[in-house]
Amino acid sequence: HQTQVGIIGAGPAGLLLSQLLDQQGIRSVVLENRSQERVESRQRAGLLEQNTVDRLRQAGATDRLDREGLVHDGIILSYNGQRHRIDLVELTSGSRVTIYAQTEVVKDLIRLRLGSTPLDAEVPISFEAEATRIDGLESSSPTIHYTQNGEAHTLTCDFVAGCDGFHGISRASIPAELTKVYDKVYPYCWLGILAKVPPSTHELIYAYHERGFALHSMRSPEISRLYVQCNVTDTLEDWPDERIWAELQIRLGSTGWVLAEGPILEKTITPMRSFVSEPMQYGRLFLSGDSAHIVPPTGAKGLNMAVADTGSLFDALMTWYREGSRANLDTYTAGCMRRVWRVQEFSNFMTELLHHNPDRTPFDAHLQTSRFNQLITSRAASALVAENYVGHAAKQSA
Ligand code: FAD
Ligand code: DHB
Repeated sequence: HQTQVGIIGAGPAGLLLSQLLDQQGIRSVVLENRSQERVESRQRAGLLEQNTVDRLRQAGATDRLDREGLVHDGIILSYNGQRHRIDLVELTSGSRVTIYAQTEVVKDLIRLRLGSTPLDAEVPISFEAEATRIDGLESSSPTIHYTQNGEAHTLTCDFVAGCDGFHGISRASIPAELTKVYDKVYPYCWLGILAKVPPSTHELIYAYHERGFALHSMRSPEISRLYVQCNVTDTLEDWPDERIWAELQIRLGSTGWVLAEGPILEKTITPMRSFVSEPMQYGRLFLSGDSAHIVPPTGAKGLNMAVADTGSLFDALMTWYREGSRANLDTYTAGCMRRVWRVQEFSNFMTELLHHNPDRTPFDAHLQTSRFNQLITSRAASALVAENYVGHAAKQSA
């Protein structure tokens, strides 16, 4: 069958694009290889920049976010127990961030898409539909090949949006000889837990400790989200609940403060890498989000960058559909890349500031301490972190 924009992947990037297009009367179909239940339950990011909330608002997807999102005015950095608050509002002239889980963003977008009146006879999202190959990207009507229920199908469209994450097929559809890849793997992982206990802090705590990084985040007034640095060879068996809480107590610890413990609902280990693949387009294919780039999670940027890419792609597609001009599509990669590299640098900075790298030299360890001391003593240094954290720095780069 046929549509205007064929979208591969029902993560935040693909779902948001589909919803934004629908509001402008542009038809799209989202192909997603996992089930709806799986897509809605994968625990991932939780922190939204104002830029991200603004795009979700443009898509009409903020009803529940406005009611349930937790708005934060600052974050706390901790270095071996010494705390330093970064006042985001004061240092950025009024910007805040919102805690609202990626699972909820995805659920809200899926409800909107499945609830809307279809612009044609198409089902707007096909779950358990795996894209296998894309043809005709140099032509004006590329075709996505996919399988569903063991049967082969095709979807022909004007444009293909590759929103299929790091392990998808879209990136590999760009000829290898045109592609440049930049990659860095970190010598540690994050073990993340969801716990049924009210958060012990109003604002997020990012902690460096000699024993490794820890982060106290949250999902709601009843549910805490915490992360602890672990070794790349660790498995979940190495981390019984008691060990996780013991490490969190030590690493997040500060005099006069107690971390409340509770039942652990979920545990996962996430590897850490920085990755950029350039260009983000070829012919009628455009990549958005994790399909083109990955950041280590320390700066909370993966989801926010996927939404920013999608916003740029939507704007460029609208220039095409309204004015028949390819101008903004042609400059899509260049426009994204300035933002992508700003976010890469910030995510790498936060990661290396806050983790204990088992391979570091004594010299590097002193630099790390000195960087933290500078953050505490210099308003300019804190302001730079704040501008990047709320998303101003990347927006100005783009
Ligand atoms: P995704 O959300 O990955 O969506 C891609 C979709 O494409 C998936 O639903 C996938 O099933 C589908 N797909 C793949 N291949 C195909 C195919 N061949 N055919 C059809 N569909 C396909 N970011 C943070 O900021 N903080 C965090 O704490 C954090 N934790 C994370 C933990 C994990 C385990 C992972 C994987 C990521 C995490 N991230 C985090 C990053 C953040 O979640 C991502 O940046 C964000 O999901 C990117 O959105 P996306 O839409 O580009 O890709
Ligand atoms: C969360 C994850 C992050 O990587 C981060 O920097 C802040 C919050 C979270 O899952 O809540």
